[in-house]
Amino acid sequence: MPTTLITGANRGIGLALVREFKKQGHDVIATARNLFEAGDLVETGAECYRLDVSDPASIGQFVMELAGRPIDYFINNAGLGDRAPIGTLDYDRFELMLRVNTIAPICLLDGLTPNLIAGKEKVAAALSSQLGSIQNTTMGFGLAYRVSKAGLNMGLRTAAHTLAEHGITLLALHPGWVKTDMGGENAPVEPADSAAGLFKVITGSGPSKELRFFDFEGKTLPW
Ligand SMILES: NC(=O)c1ccc[n+]([C@@H]2O[C@H](COP(=O)([O-])OP(=O)(O)OC[C@H]3O[C@@H](n4cnc5c(N)ncnc54)[C@H](OP(=O)(O)O)[C@@H]3O)[C@@H](O)[C@H]2O)c1
Repeated sequence: MPTTLITGANRGIGLALVREFKKQGHDVIATARNLFEAGDLVETGAECYRLDVSDPASIGQFVMELAGRPIDYFINNAGLGDRAPIGTLDYDRFELMLRVNTIAPICLLDGLTPNLIAGKEKVAAALSSQLGSIQNTTMGFGLAYRVSKAGLNMGLRTAAHTLAEHGITLLALHPGWVKTDMGGENAPVEPADSAAGLFKVITGSGPSKELRFFDFEGKTLPW
C-alpha cells in the first residue's frame, strides 16, 4: 500500500484529499496545526500529526518525527488566501503568506527528501494556483497570494532538477476554483471532485525531470 502525506488536512481540499487517498487504499499521514479542532480529519482514520507550517520549529519537529518513514506521495496542501490589491497591502500578512505558501512547502520538501528517496513512487506535489501564473495575470486582486504561488512554482521548478537525480518527480497543481473557506460559496468545483481529479493527476502523471503545472483535470497551465 502506498504511503501519502498531506498537509493542512483538517478542512477544505486537504480533508477531501485525505478521504480520496484513503478511499483508493493509501496509508495516509495527515497534518493539522490544531489537532483538537480536527475532528473530521481524525474520523477518517488517517495517522495525524501537528504541524504549523509558518513555524520553522514545528517544521523541524515534524521532519524529525517522520525520520526513517518512506513516503510515496507528498502533497503540500496547506495554504493561505488573500485578495488584497496594491494600495491595501498589509506587510505582516504578506510576509505570513510567503512563509506559508512559498517557504514552507520548499523547506518541507527539503527536509523530507530522504523520506521520498526511501519511498517507491517518489512524487511530491504542491497545491499552487492558476493565480500564480505570470502569463495569465490580467487582474490586480490577490497580489501577495499570486506572488507567493509564483514563487512556489519557481522554487519547485529549480528543485526539480536536483531531485530528479534521486528519481523524485515534482508537480505544481491547480485544484480548480473549489468551494472551500478559501474558494468561497460561488466556486463551481466541489472539494471531493477536485480531490478525485488530483488523485488521478498525482498518481498517474508518471516520472519527469522537469516540473509540470497541471490543473485537477490534467490540463497543462502556462507559467
Ligand atoms: N479553493 C480554491 O479555489 C483554491 C484555488 C487554487 C489553489 N488553492 C490552494 O489549495 C490549497 C488548499 O486550499 P483550500 O481551498 O482547501 O483552503 P482552506 O479551506 O482555507 O484550507 C486551508 C488549509 O491550510 C491550513 N493552513 C493554513 N495556514 C496554515 C499553517 N500556518 N500551518 C498549517 N496549516 C495551515 C488550514 O489550517 P487551519 O484550519 O488551521 O487554518 C487549512 O487546513 C491551498 O494551498 C490553496 O492556495 C485553492
